[in-house]
Order: sequence, then structure tokens, then C-alpha cells
Amino acid sequence: MKNVTRWLFFCGSLVFGLWTALFYVHFHFNQESKEPEIPKPAQGWSSKKAPHLTHASEPKPKQPIISDQFKKGKSPSLKSFLGLERWLSGEGICLQMCLWKHYPAQLPTASVVICFHNEELNALLRTVSSVVYLTPSYYLQEIILVDDMSKFDDLKAKLEHYLEIFRGRIKLIRTKKRKGLIQSRMIGASHASGDILVFLDSHCEVNNVWLQPLLYAISKDHRMVVTPIIDIIDNMTLEYKEAPIARGAFDWDLKFKWDPVYLYELDGPEGGSTPIRSPAMSGGVFAIHRHYFNALGQYDKGMAIWGGENVELSLRIWMCGGQLFIIPCSRVGRISKKYVPDDTLVMEASIWNHLRLVHVWLDEYKGKFFARKPSWKSMSYGNISEHLELRKRLGCKSFQWYLDTVFPERKPNYL
Ligand SMILES: *[C@@H]1O[C@H](CO)[C@@H](O)[C@H](O)[C@H]1NC(C)=O
Ligand SMILES: *[C@@H]1O[C@H](CO)[C@@H](O)[C@H](O)[C@H]1NC(C)=O
Repeated sequence: MKNVTRWLFFCGSLVFGLWTALFYVHFHFNQESKEPEIPKPAQGWSSKKAPHLTHASEPKPKQPIISDQFKKGKSPSLKSFLGLERWLSGEGICLQMCLWKHYPAQLPTASVVICFHNEELNALLRTVSSVVYLTPSYYLQEIILVDDMSKFDDLKAKLEHYLEIFRGRIKLIRTKKRKGLIQSRMIGASHASGDILVFLDSHCEVNNVWLQPLLYAISKDHRMVVTPIIDIIDNMTLEYKEAPIARGAFDWDLKFKWDPVYLYELDGPEGGSTPIRSPAMSGGVFAIHRHYFNALGQYDKGMAIWGGENVELSLRIWMCGGQLFIIPCSRVGRISKKYVPDDTLVMEASIWNHLRLVHVWLDEYKGKFFARKPSWKSMSYGNISEHLELRKRLGCKSFQWYLDTVFPERKPNYL
């Protein structure tokens, strides 16, 4: 009996021991097999992947990495973020030309102005951290965030908590009542101290060497206004896709659109890396000399919320002695959002703004616009006398001149 008990005890111990060992091995193996899934900072992007800094559902800025690099003014190894190969994989030759370009260390400094209203926190933080990561700090005077009365809770204390990582390089301004994009940008600009203003939408990610080509173009001619190529970030997958080279344009309803660029324009010794004349800009991202922005009269202060201000400023730039170019070596990704102005306030603002633009700048071509929008003809647009005065004071040319010289593709007979 004693022996049987001992034997049973021995067997029980053996089984227990075996199970323990098996459990241990199983658990350990699982741990190890999980390990590679833990994201490793600053090395995770293969050549095909998008340059998103973090796509976790909770934003997890990598504190020591960002602040140290920013503090010491080192730009992080570009390869570690994007992989240079990604540049070569797409459109080919024009991007290769960009890799060979060198920019002087002495360039004007930039103030990056980012305005937002109810932006998704992650999208906003990706915008900010991409600028911090991919801009050499000696070119970056500051980042100015203008919160235009956002209602989202996480854009309050939580946002401020995340911004502390960047230690004083970011100014956060909150408007006291809803101002709209146009006014918010002017508020942001009034707080800027850098030489160049760079307006950036709040759901962008700047790409490798994005700022230098813009600063360089303006440093050669302070009346040059420039935009990067706006690449596409998929709104669902956040995949980063290269946009084709195109120029900014509009139809006779003054709605912005992209027009094709002719092959001969990409034919020069610099290939597709040559700046491209652009009759208009989409408005989401552009760089302009701060003094020139002021001399030009900033935005039309009588305009509301947003809509049409990009075309108005484009016309003013060209007709009043400036130039507007797309710089293909600078690329900024932007989440492709569909703007459905379901808000009647926004819709009314857009009509109001377009009418101001038409009555100030279109001269005898107003009829072309009203042929498309007959019901708008009798609508009010406020007092434009200040802007008519500005047009005179700046000695601006006629809309006919603009069509002949800047935008010959837009045939006047075309309706
Ligand atoms: C997402 O992008 C696609 C195309 O780029 C567009 O058609 C769609 O409306 C966008 N969706 C939203 C919610 O913005
Ligand atoms: C329009 O504004 C100007 C000054 O900007 C002012 O002198 C003029 O009286 C205003 N016109 C009307 C009709 O209010």
C-alpha cells in the first residue's frame, strides 16, 4: 500500500513537472515570437512604405528621439525615415535629378503656420512631427498652430500635453471665436518671425528635403511664391502615393483643378525637376516671403471661412508682379479628404468669397463666370472698394494680360 502511494506520488510529480516544463516552453516561445512585432523606432520603414511617423490608434510620440534631435539641431538620418529608394521607385527621372541637388546652408528661415478646426488629433500630430523630423532645425524658426475654436476634447489639454515634447518650438494660438481658415492664417502670420511663411494644412506629412527647395526658390526672388507637389495620402489606409506632376488651374466657374504639364516643359537639362509655372494654387500648402505677403495685402480680409481665397491670391500674385511656381523637388503628402460643404455657413462663405474675387479681378471676363452661375449675379459680396484700391496701388495688370501671359491654356472662348 505504501509502495503504491509512493508510486502514485512519483507519477503525479512527473506529470506535474512535465506540464510545468511544457507551459514554460510554450509561454517563452510565444514571448519570443511576438517580439518582432514591437515597433522599433526610426528603422521600420522599408523602401515601399509610407513615411508615417506613427499609425497607432493612440498617438505615441517617441519622446527622447524627437526632442534630442530637435534640440541638437541634427536632422535625423533621412534613410531611416523614408528610405531613399522610395524616391526612385516612382516617377523616375525627375526625382533622381532632385537627389543630386544641393542647397546652400544659408537660406532664409521659415515659420510653418498650421491652422485647424476640429482636426483629428493623430493627423495633426503627424503633421507637426513630420515637420520636426524632416526639417533641419536651423531653417525652422517656429511652428505656429492656430486652433480655430475646435470642439474636439482631445485638441485641448491632451494636445498641449503632446506638444510639450517639442519644447518651445511650437506656438499654440487659440481663437476666441470661430474665424475661419482665411482669418486664422492671417492671425498665424502675424505671430510669425521667420523670413518665409509656410502655410500647411493640418492633415499633411512633409517628405524628405521638403523645405530647402522652397526656401531656395524664394531666396533667389522674394516675389516668387512656391508650392510643393502635393502627394496623396489615402484617407483609409494612410498609404502615401506620389501624385503626378500637374499645374494648378481653374475653369470658368473658378473652381480649382489640376491641368496637365506638357512634355516639352520637362525636357530641359534639369529634366522634371525644373519649377513649373502654375496659374493657380490649391492653397493647402505654399510658401511666401513674409514681407511680400504683407506687401501684397495678405488675404482679402473681407472674405469668410474658406473657399476661393486660393484662386484670389493666385490672381493677385501673378497680376501684381509676382510669380507662382510648383517646385517638383519638394513633396508634401496630404490626406485626400472630400470636402462636402454640408454646412450652409461654409457654402454661403464660398459664394461670397468667389463674388468678391470676380468683381475685383475678372474685368470684362465676369460674364464668363456668371454664364455658369447666373443666380449668383444679384447676390451681395460686401464692400470691395479697399481691394479695388489695392489693385490700383500695386499697379496690377489686367485679367486679359493674365490670360495671355500666364494662362494661355485657358481659352477665353472655352465655356
Ligand atoms: C477618400 O478619398 C477618396 C479619393 O481620394 C475620395 O473619393 C473619398 O471621398 C475620400 N473620403 C473621405 C471620407 O474623405
Ligand atoms: C467701403 O469701404 C470704404 C473704406 O474701406 C469706405 O470709405 C466706404 O465708405 C465703404 N462704402 C460703403 C458703401 O460702405
